[in-house]
Amino acid sequence: MRRPVVLITGASGEIGHGLITRLAADGARPILTLDLKALDPELRRLVAREFVGSILDRTVLERILSEFEIDLIFHLAALLSTRGEFTPVTAHRVNVEGTLNLLEFAQHERQSHGRPVALLYPSSIAAYGLPDLATKSRVRKVREDDFNQPSTMYGCNKLYAESLGRYYSRHYKQLSSEAVSGRVDFRCVRFPGLISAVTVPSGGTSDYAPEMIHAAAEGNGYACFVREDTRIPFMAMPDGVEALLRLAAAPAGSLTRQVYNVGAFAPSAGEIRSLVVKAFPAANITFEPDLKRQGILDTWPGDVDDTAARRDWGFAPKYGLEAAFSDYLIPTIRDRYRKA
Ligand code: SER
Repeated sequence: MRRPVVLITGASGEIGHGLITRLAADGARPILTLDLKALDPELRRLVAREFVGSILDRTVLERILSEFEIDLIFHLAALLSTRGEFTPVTAHRVNVEGTLNLLEFAQHERQSHGRPVALLYPSSIAAYGLPDLATKSRVRKVREDDFNQPSTMYGCNKLYAESLGRYYSRHYKQLSSEAVSGRVDFRCVRFPGLISAVTVPSGGTSDYAPEMIHAAAEGNGYACFVREDTRIPFMAMPDGVEALLRLAAAPAGSLTRQVYNVGAFAPSAGEIRSLVVKAFPAANITFEPDLKRQGILDTWPGDVDDTAARRDWGFAPKYGLEAAFSDYLIPTIRDRYRKA
């Protein structure tokens, strides 16, 4: 029997960075990666095999299928919410067709080696769409099945990809006479905005928070593209990575749903600015809202109800707002720019 390996798509992205480091430290499975962009050299050293290519290219996936026995997939590749509004059809292709390819791939792996295959999928608060600010402030913590009316192509794609995952794991080929020997084990978290101290995001709408922090640490001014009172949930990247790993490790019997909210803190943009200025007193941060991007954020929830994740698989973020800054973001970011 070949040794089971883990596949990470979109591995060069922000979550991929943290995930590769954590998985390599655990050392339980060799790591394969697939991304359009080559990995940074320090990550490249940690993986068994790197494929540079697209999730839309079936030949790459077929090659991986023929060479490896994969039992765990983190499908991170995506085109985010701001970028998706400029190229909606491309966003759909990457986010929906790409996910469909990965689900098919996972199903084929399942059939080919006969053991369970888990596909871990990061969905997003973009899957929600609140109708107006009055509703947003009234609701406070949104539950998974409420307000599923996304306003962005990315949000539509994420919500639909969740349904695809549910279909593959519960109903795939339900009427076919051909025997389906087990289905994909699809598990999904809806992430809030993620803030990493070691990478900077691109193409997202929650990017104002990490951009503000990184700009201040670099000694650059920053014009924040949202109103000071804008509030959405955020999480420190190590807790995001931990959430994926914990959900992957949870016994199937303990899971009561396939899509779980996860949250950690939900500050306004003004509160984030105050913490940044406390750490970097020379920071020059102003608010110059971009009404269009603001419009998207106004439809995203102010916070999420993650009771189910805490109950079913012990989700427990290590970093609250203050600790995320004092114990993770500020010291790590200072170090990053000192070295640069
Ligand atoms: N961070 C993502 C974005 O802003 C949301 O999942 O697009």
